[in-house]
Amino acid sequence: MKYGHFDDDNREYVITNPATPFPWINYLGDKDFFSLISNTAGGYSFYKDAKFRRLNRYRYNNVPMDDGGRYFYINDGDSVWNPGWKPSKTELDHYECRHGMNYTKISGEKNGIKAECLFFVPLGTWAEIQKITLSNTSNEVKKFKFFSYNEWALWNAATDMENFQRNFSTGEVEVEGSVIYHKTEYRERRNHFAYYSVNTEIDGFDTDRESFVGLYNCHANPEVVLSGKPKNTVAHGWSPIASHYKEIELQPGESTDLIFVLGYVENAEDDKWESKGVINKTKAKEVIAKFNTTAKVEAALSELRAYWDDILDRFIIDSGDERLDRQVNIWNQYQCMITFNFSRSASYFESGIGRGMGFRDSNQDLIGFVHQAPERARQRVIDIASTQFPDGGCYHQYQPLTKGGNNEVGGGFNDDPMWLILGVTSYIKESGDFSILDEMVPFDNDESLAQTMFNHLTISFNHVVNNLGPNKLPLIGRADWNDCLNLNCFSMNPNESFQTTENNSEGSKAESLMIAGLFVYYGREYIDLCKVIGKEEEAARAQQEVDNMVEAIKQNGWDGEWFLRAYDFYGNKIGSNENEEGKIFIESNGFCTMAKIGDDEGMCEKALDAVKERLDTKYGIVLNNPAYTTYRIEMGEISTYPPGYKENAGIFCHNNPWIMIGETELGRGDQAYEYYTKIAPAFLEDIQELHKTEPYVYSQMIAGKDAFKPGEAKNSWLTGTAAWNYAAITQHILGIRPALQGMLIDPCIPTKWDGFKVSRKFRGYTLNIEVKNPNHISKGVKQITIDGKPIEGNLIPVLEKGKTYNVNVTL
Ligand code: GLC
Repeated sequence: MKYGHFDDDNREYVITNPATPFPWINYLGDKDFFSLISNTAGGYSFYKDAKFRRLNRYRYNNVPMDDGGRYFYINDGDSVWNPGWKPSKTELDHYECRHGMNYTKISGEKNGIKAECLFFVPLGTWAEIQKITLSNTSNEVKKFKFFSYNEWALWNAATDMENFQRNFSTGEVEVEGSVIYHKTEYRERRNHFAYYSVNTEIDGFDTDRESFVGLYNCHANPEVVLSGKPKNTVAHGWSPIASHYKEIELQPGESTDLIFVLGYVENAEDDKWESKGVINKTKAKEVIAKFNTTAKVEAALSELRAYWDDILDRFIIDSGDERLDRQVNIWNQYQCMITFNFSRSASYFESGIGRGMGFRDSNQDLIGFVHQAPERARQRVIDIASTQFPDGGCYHQYQPLTKGGNNEVGGGFNDDPMWLILGVTSYIKESGDFSILDEMVPFDNDESLAQTMFNHLTISFNHVVNNLGPNKLPLIGRADWNDCLNLNCFSMNPNESFQTTENNSEGSKAESLMIAGLFVYYGREYIDLCKVIGKEEEAARAQQEVDNMVEAIKQNGWDGEWFLRAYDFYGNKIGSNENEEGKIFIESNGFCTMAKIGDDEGMCEKALDAVKERLDTKYGIVLNNPAYTTYRIEMGEISTYPPGYKENAGIFCHNNPWIMIGETELGRGDQAYEYYTKIAPAFLEDIQELHKTEPYVYSQMIAGKDAFKPGEAKNSWLTGTAAWNYAAITQHILGIRPALQGMLIDPCIPTKWDGFKVSRKFRGYTLNIEVKNPNHISKGVKQITIDGKPIEGNLIPVLEKGKTYNVNVTL
């Protein structure tokens, strides 16, 4: 069964059946103020930080699913319904949801009344706009009652869910005209409030949830909506809400717009009050006035569209396959922006309270984002590096509101530092801005410890060199990329978290082949960088370290048919044919083949063939095989998952691209592309029901071959999968790869392709690239011409800004 379809011209996904297999969501907001919105208008908004500045209450994993959102109720005398179907679930005559680039349109129609709802956050604005167009599509006069509904969260989304002895007494609101202000705790300690307004006079309101919903009713049948009479309640404690009431009369064919604004305000200390106990509303009123007519709202939406036109104009492929085109041109790039904005904090699988920005995650996210807004990437990489420790280790996460490292999670994940080299070099390759290397960047957010960004990279590189184990391979620390491979935890207490429990690395022999491959791959990037900026000596020193690591991997990391995964605390092999379970893993085989370690000796080919044979499935490549069937104290969290799920032999979509890239290094374009299409959402439309999550974005994990339901996806949106797949397809399969000194052209495509075209905006000029594949090969550039003139090799040097160049490539 299909629940919707793509509309590429409008860059929208159109959902035509509201009862999707899981809520299919979208994100609103560009920088500070964000909202999550599902196809039935569920979700919530927050300012910068989904934990500390949550505006509305949302109940994760609730019954029914997806409860809480911006709800509009229509009581037409015969029935009570919502334009987005939920929460009343009254059957509609027509329903449609269009998720676009940072906006969502939901429309519902019933008994001759149509409600079209547009939701978006205007650029640079701390508010969500909700424009509701109500139309009479019948031949008779329509009179009906219209209610809005929003439930406030008491700011901290975590305590909002648990500290009821306090929460039930703190709630405070003010109502002035058609605006309801939520001012809980706005006193000496807090300088912020929220508001919900509508651009018309209202006929009533409610701000107390119990009065509006009824203590034993639910969102599907609120007492006030059923009775058709607001109670004009002013909340004192308990659960404050904001609901407007309006009586509407429409002639046949007539329509009217109501514009709601759900916003957030911060006031300066000396400007907090209008009079004693009355909040200063000036800033809220300014925003409300800015969006109080249809024309103003439409102008703001056009601006948002223009902003996205500009972003998506930087890489446009014309491949002849609409699935690939929509994946590359629209949805994958869009998801990369979302992961850049949110890291792993707020989705329908990430509750917004558990995790802030991840050190390794946010660095990796940059590879799919940096071309969209290099200046934002620059700031991000500086923020991330500022949470590094002086010895090169890092806080694993930081909170976006404070930008300070997250003490609760701590550090010791020994892959973290190397990802900073990826983040910084990706930025330089895209922008050509080497000045970031001279930027003074603090350690542990302490300005007095600041050193240049270049030194941060050296220290990151050295962190691996300084932490080698008995096989001269990198010590794993708390974990490497695989958070669940906890080789130093030895946890027998089910009440402790593997991520934060004591890490017994003292005397540990636990080494990671994943970090080893990572070190070689990004170590070489570091060396290239040193050479380009004239640091020859450092380049030579680093080269020696990388060479040593390559040797150590060949000597101690090769299992005969593939690369080992790790050595455990005692020095026993993990990911070896000698093991009964977990014989082979994806991560080390991905990174070591990307880095072409032992390629001359045939190691890469063997390793990738083994991956194909043992890890590949119909729905993607599983993480390890055979799956672990019992808990192994020396391995940790990985063995707590049932076989086929998550890190225990799930299809972790994040590292499938490492294998794709490894394949392109071998020149096997058919295989690389086959792996790509197996997990790319636009290619999975026909299995929407099984796949379950949004058909327009990647999910972190698809259930593997050992799972109960192979092919079923979970954890959509916030995953490094977005950036890595974007990098794999654009930089390695299509082979258009930013380099320190220009743009490298190195495609590795399916042999049956005749070629493809890409328009790429880069460092201020445009490359119109046409690749031709007359001999139907995968890889190997024969000739490149720029505006008809042949060049040597396949690196397009840095060209003059402001111009457009025609680049013809023959394979
Ligand atoms: C999650 C984490 C990421 C980790 C991965 C594998 O996606 O966000 O940091 O690398 O799981 O464990």
